[in-house]
Amino acid sequence: MSHFFHLDGVLHADSTPLPAIAERFGTPTYVYSKAALLGNFAAFSDACAGRDALVCYAMKANSNLAILDLLARRGAGFDIVSGGELLRVIAAGGDPRKVIFSGVGKSADEMRLALSHDILCFNVESIPELHRLNEVAGTMGKQARVSLRVNPNVDPKVHPYIATGLKASKFGVAFDDALATYRTAAALAHITPVGIDCHIGSQLLDDAPLLQALDKLIELVDALGAEGIVLDHLDMGGGIGINYGEAGGSEPVPVGDYLARVFARIDAWRADKHAGRAIKVIFEPGRAIVGDTGVLLTRVEYLKPGAEKNFCIVDAAMNDLMRPALYQAWMDVQAVAPHGGEAVTYDVVGPVCESGDWLARDRQLAVAEGDLLAIMQAGAYGFTMSSNYNTRGRAAEVMVDGDQVHLVRQREHPTDLFALESVLK
Ligand code: LLP
Repeated sequence: MSHFFHLDGVLHADSTPLPAIAERFGTPTYVYSKAALLGNFAAFSDACAGRDALVCYAMKANSNLAILDLLARRGAGFDIVSGGELLRVIAAGGDPRKVIFSGVGKSADEMRLALSHDILCFNVESIPELHRLNEVAGTMGKQARVSLRVNPNVDPKVHPYIATGLKASKFGVAFDDALATYRTAAALAHITPVGIDCHIGSQLLDDAPLLQALDKLIELVDALGAEGIVLDHLDMGGGIGINYGEAGGSEPVPVGDYLARVFARIDAWRADKHAGRAIKVIFEPGRAIVGDTGVLLTRVEYLKPGAEKNFCIVDAAMNDLMRPALYQAWMDVQAVAPHGGEAVTYDVVGPVCESGDWLARDRQLAVAEGDLLAIMQAGAYGFTMSSNYNTRGRAAEVMVDGDQVHLVRQREHPTDLFALESVLK
């Protein structure tokens, strides 16, 4: 069920009409639905009920404190990729002992911060990183719990910028080097290998590549067990996609079906030769939790007809929503209050001085100056990837809770943007 729908000719977020939000908070504004967020999280947590499993929300998708707080209260852990994200988890009341730290370039400072908060696990991506972590943990007199991100060389069949599990990717330890890397890890005094993980890519609609990756991880868990390196958890990464509404696009695999298939394979493995052996399963979903919980609300500034193209110039831009410029991503655009009239084919573009500043291309829209548009399914990798390019303050963010609307991030004022700068004395 979508939480964004037209009612009496006006687009609503749950029971709140979007024009009322534009009136009160201005545009561009990200609008999130609390009910949609909790529904998406419940799809994961329900499927994990009664299982030894942990859902670590990949907060790079959307790290607003209101979202983290709501998920933390429902038991979520968090997948972080920086010290800054850990500070957000703590500020939102999340439990650092349910945090896993991913990423290829963790600094010594970030390691220290994470160790001082006793995080669940470092997802380590290289041998030099293992050595540095061992050193940092040693100076603190601590043990670092570690999982190796293994690159299973499975093709997720998604946009090359968001495919991460192939041999040519910067991520992870090559499958063939994994055993040797675990041996190195096990021999380091301040490293305790506790898990194995992978993340093969994002926006997967089919779970077959993920299950293939799981089979390869299980192979390694067995090979390691035979050497006496017994792991406590297996982390499947994120990657389940959403339906962006493009014509001819398909629905993603239902989350419950995917998780059931993962657990069935784990059960079969345990029954086969490991009776009684427990292994926790971790998931790191980002987009599947927040992608369809938000829209970017924007207002039409000008309509500019042209010889080859007509432009619908709106007040949101590539700095607010990078996905189209960066990945040629197709995002659905809906008129908030469609008023009939003749539809014209437009490119929907922003005010930023770049030809790459477009949000949608070749869309049939019946619009007038001053109309509101909503860029749909913008809850994931929208605000978090936004910038201040062209000294544009970042958009406001609001969360709808039934007929209540909460401002969860104020719109940035341009003077905020140069407050940390100074001229030469
Ligand atoms: N775990 C790791 C280690 C990751 O690198 C990612 C995403 C996730 C989990 C969450 O993946 P998800 O469930 O959201 O697919 N900005 C791009 C997506 C980049 C994904 C980066 N890694 C986009 O807008 O499509």
